[in-house]
Amino acid sequence: MKKIGNGHATGKIILIGEHSVVYGKKAIAFPFAGVGIHTLVQANPTVHIQSKYFNGTLDEMKQVTSMHNLVSLIEVLKKDLELPNFCLNIKSTIPAERGMGSSAAVAVSIIRAIFDWQALPLDEKKLLKYVDYSEQIAHDNPSGIDAVATSGTQPILFEKSQPFETFQLNVDAYLLVADTGIKGQTRQAVKDVANLVQQKGASIRHIIDQLGDLTLEAKTAIVENQAEKLGQIMTASHRLLQKLTVSNHTLDQAVELALNHHALGAKLTGGGRGGCLIVLAKDLQNARFIQEKLISYGMKRTWLQGLGVYQNV
Ligand code: MEV
Repeated sequence: MKKIGNGHATGKIILIGEHSVVYGKKAIAFPFAGVGIHTLVQANPTVHIQSKYFNGTLDEMKQVTSMHNLVSLIEVLKKDLELPNFCLNIKSTIPAERGMGSSAAVAVSIIRAIFDWQALPLDEKKLLKYVDYSEQIAHDNPSGIDAVATSGTQPILFEKSQPFETFQLNVDAYLLVADTGIKGQTRQAVKDVANLVQQKGASIRHIIDQLGDLTLEAKTAIVENQAEKLGQIMTASHRLLQKLTVSNHTLDQAVELALNHHALGAKLTGGGRGGCLIVLAKDLQNARFIQEKLISYGMKRTWLQGLGVYQNV
């Protein structure tokens, strides 16, 4: 056992396929190292958690409904690994509830820190088993995409309950990520889509199928370095997500603003109803121009990168 254990995870961006991925369609996501979480763990007389959002004992944490996923995760790790009491110190730059995978990432960083502290081997399968356990409590019916994207280093083509494929994302374009500053509602949005499927059946299934097809087209556009095509696919996917009722006014306005300023494409990313949008721009100049416009419109934070694993520009 080490004196201090250390665990890290990144945020994630879903390029395409959110929501439809819950229904067995493919999605493309990548780890977003523009934001991340670091957790340190060491022995302590009681189980104690220190973070920006919560500071107290495990028993006190049980009183906070939004933390039940982490309480259960900590309890199961403590039992499975027969751990002594410990203090977790969690430092995050991932905005919570913004579609950037913060709940999965915090789980990844805690699990990694605890296994590191105990000097125990942790393979991907074991890591994902614990993250999925925590995500099941946080999100009810998660596809598992957040767990994979926040724990990896490569873009992924993801399908629920299937081995995922990693690939290179090298498109000649720039990706702008913008945080509306509005808390997303992934859990509720996923539930509402499920209700829509129940109520309207075939028409909603058709939208989900179309989203699945767009992911496959996006993969081809990426492999063939067709930035314009990829942009069109992203916007088409936003229009379908609107029909699934998972967008909101601010996201829609921000998407239109980007498109009106020559973006190749734009869409919400993640659970929706708030959170973040992503914009594809043909060059750095256009990306910076749109970035300024979105900031003036009221976006709380923006990140700009080449289209691939995070490379700040
Ligand atoms: C959340 O980041 C992505 C959703 O598709 C839900 C999930 O896949 O679990 C909305």
